[in-house]
Amino acid sequence: MTATPEAKRYTTVAIILHWLIAVMLVSLVFVGWWMEDLGEAARAGEISFGQVQAVYNWHKTAGILVLLLSLARLGWRFTHPVPALPATMKPWEALGARAAHIGFYGVMIGMPLIGWAMVSNSSLPTRLFNIEGFNLPGLPVPDVEAVHEVLGSAHSAGGWVILVLLALHAGAALKHHFLDRDGVLNRMVPGLNVPPQNAQD
Ligand code: HEM
Repeated sequence: MTATPEAKRYTTVAIILHWLIAVMLVSLVFVGWWMEDLGEAARAGEISFGQVQAVYNWHKTAGILVLLLSLARLGWRFTHPVPALPATMKPWEALGARAAHIGFYGVMIGMPLIGWAMVSNSSLPTRLFNIEGFNLPGLPVPDVEAVHEVLGSAHSAGGWVILVLLALHAGAALKHHFLDRDGVLNRMVPGLNVPPQNAQD
């Protein structure tokens, strides 16, 4: 559904999904990087391989949950009105905001799918919620070295894309709040109700 000037805030469901997915995305990036050191620690005998496996399983489970939540959010986005961007925004700012939002949906859905594809031919099963036997089925991915490499590089780069998008998105939100003072942040932060000063909406 398109943006409507009547909607002043995002719906409660949209706000919950926004913050839940945001926290999960950032945590997944840092846990992903941490996982690289864990293998080293296990080889050095500092932790057990079982513990490393558990962290991997939780990373993968949380990633699959992000995929499901993001699909739900996309469904919600298309069926519920969202507040229009302030009329005071310049066309390039509105274009940038839309591009960042589309980029976020891309990584929210693309990153879990790439991660899932990456482990689809692994001999070690992905145990959802670290429960024995509750295994994630594999996607039909060719078991070829070149494919593994491309997927691994894409998953690695995706972590940086998420952090860059986040910096742009959060920076823009803070600019709206402290410099433009147009009430945009109110729409996504529960309880925040700073009266807009310059906005025409
Ligand atoms: C939004 C979801 C996800 C995010 C943001 C994310 C992020 C990351 C990041 C940043 C890394 C470190 C990559 C590197 O620097 O080399 C990583 C590693 C990894 N991720 Fe994900 N991930 C997500 C979902 C998934 C899913 C769904 C799976 C599998 C079902 C998965 C499997 C893995 C594996 C196996 C590694 C370790 C790769 C290695 O040891 O080289 N990820 N993830």
